[in-house]
Amino acid sequence: MNNILFVSSEAVPYIKTGGLADVVGSLPRYIDSKEYDVRVIIPKYVCMDSSFLSELKFVCHFYVDLNWRKQYAGIFEAKHRGITYYLVDNEFYFNGPSPYNNIYEDVEKFAFFCKAVLLALPYLDFCPDVIHCNDWQTGLLPVFLHTSFGSDNFYANIKTVFSIHNIKFQGRWRIKEIMDITGLPAHIFNASELEAYGEANYLKGGCVYADMITTVSPSYAHDITTPEGGEGLDGLMYARRDRLHGILNGLDYREYDPSSDPFIAHHFTVKDVVGKKLQNKRELQKANGMGQDDDAFLIGIVSRMTDQKGFDLVAYIMEEMLSTMNVQFAVLGTGESRYENMFHYFQNKYPDKVHAHIGYSEDRAHQIYASCDAFLMPSLFEPCGLSQLIAMRYGTIPIVRETGGLKDTVIPYNEYEHTGSGFSFRNYNAHDMLHVIQYAKSIYDDDRDSWNQMMQQDMQLDFSWEASAREYEKLYDSLIGLKGEDSGM
Ligand code: ADP
Ligand code: GLC
Repeated sequence: MNNILFVSSEAVPYIKTGGLADVVGSLPRYIDSKEYDVRVIIPKYVCMDSSFLSELKFVCHFYVDLNWRKQYAGIFEAKHRGITYYLVDNEFYFNGPSPYNNIYEDVEKFAFFCKAVLLALPYLDFCPDVIHCNDWQTGLLPVFLHTSFGSDNFYANIKTVFSIHNIKFQGRWRIKEIMDITGLPAHIFNASELEAYGEANYLKGGCVYADMITTVSPSYAHDITTPEGGEGLDGLMYARRDRLHGILNGLDYREYDPSSDPFIAHHFTVKDVVGKKLQNKRELQKANGMGQDDDAFLIGIVSRMTDQKGFDLVAYIMEEMLSTMNVQFAVLGTGESRYENMFHYFQNKYPDKVHAHIGYSEDRAHQIYASCDAFLMPSLFEPCGLSQLIAMRYGTIPIVRETGGLKDTVIPYNEYEHTGSGFSFRNYNAHDMLHVIQYAKSIYDDDRDSWNQMMQQDMQLDFSWEASAREYEKLYDSLIGLKGEDSGM
């Protein structure tokens, strides 16, 4: 049996702010349990859904030394759908209304988390063959493993994988303060290890010290080796490209299943999607107080409202679309206030056509995926994107920009051969986006048979975890085969 430990700042069902939680909450279940004992460890946030508290079992506690600090860490355990989850407790660090707060607090919080995870292992009697880290919050784990635990036999054979879900967020802060927080030696804060552009950089540390780097789609694995996509770390990514693998995210098909989804009014399969989608569309229009219009082209958006997701393009052509086309928008998201305000403005101006719910809501998200005709995701960059996969699973046609995982998962419609799974545009340009929305609407209006056929085909595409889980297994095997050898830096 091979032991794998996933380390993450979020995981479904306990805490979620985005796709990372979906991935960490589902991929472990698709890794072959006959060959691998996969467990997950995350922080135990005060803001976590309290309904889970009764399921948690206290395991142990110990103290974590972070330079001159000594901080309490409690470990709780829970089982969810066959997977063991550990939750690290410390209410000083993991308080507040959301998992992430100010960066100057988060750098200490996640340094604590990484060290606590490593210290917890002997207490849990679980020695991983591979620790699978995710995003900058776990970047210091491979660093601590090499610098602070290197001489301890218990840790000697542990290999690390570092997965980049978003290279934009790197966990950067002043070197002097990070040295004070972590107690890490001054000599590793150099341009080949933890320093970048004069700051300490957790994501860089994770990538330099890990044995293997992955990211969440093949296109993004290439994008981050270029100056346009590398967010300043393209040189490092290019240099490490032999250890950088792009493995496409999958979707948890049990979680996102239109035939049994508890959040939607009318369940459907590929056989009755056309009629049932219309019924769901009517429900959504009614619930949102929008115009009851079967022919309106209903476009859904479920997203963090940030620059990454292309909202400046949407803002630019919203007025033109709403004043000239029979379109409706059902929007769910939260983030930058300029985008939240933009949707409120258009909802006030066009209440029949726009409904925006600002906030986080699992049930509303599922209702939008199930009820809309199309799903808009014009991202500036997109490491993988799960929303377009969920949309297709619910027969909702994606309209996306050709970048990263969106390019790898949405095949542009070809009206001559009736192939493709959605609509896409290449340049980050608002009118290119408008034209492709108009084109999609023209197929919806004038060639409904082709549209309906695409809905049915999209529902049958396979974006489950099966293939990608096999790729992760191969990667773990290659590292476990290297036990004891220096496969890392
Ligand atoms: P990212 O991780 O960059 O936010 P993804 O497309 O990978 O983008 O994943 C986003 C996930 O978060 C999807 O499961 C999506 O449905 C969900 N999501 C995003 N915003 C909200 C929201 N406001 N309410 C509910 N779910 C949301
Ligand atoms: C990040 C990316 C998103 C990806 C998700 C899960 O949040 O922005 O594209 O799907 O991580 O890997």
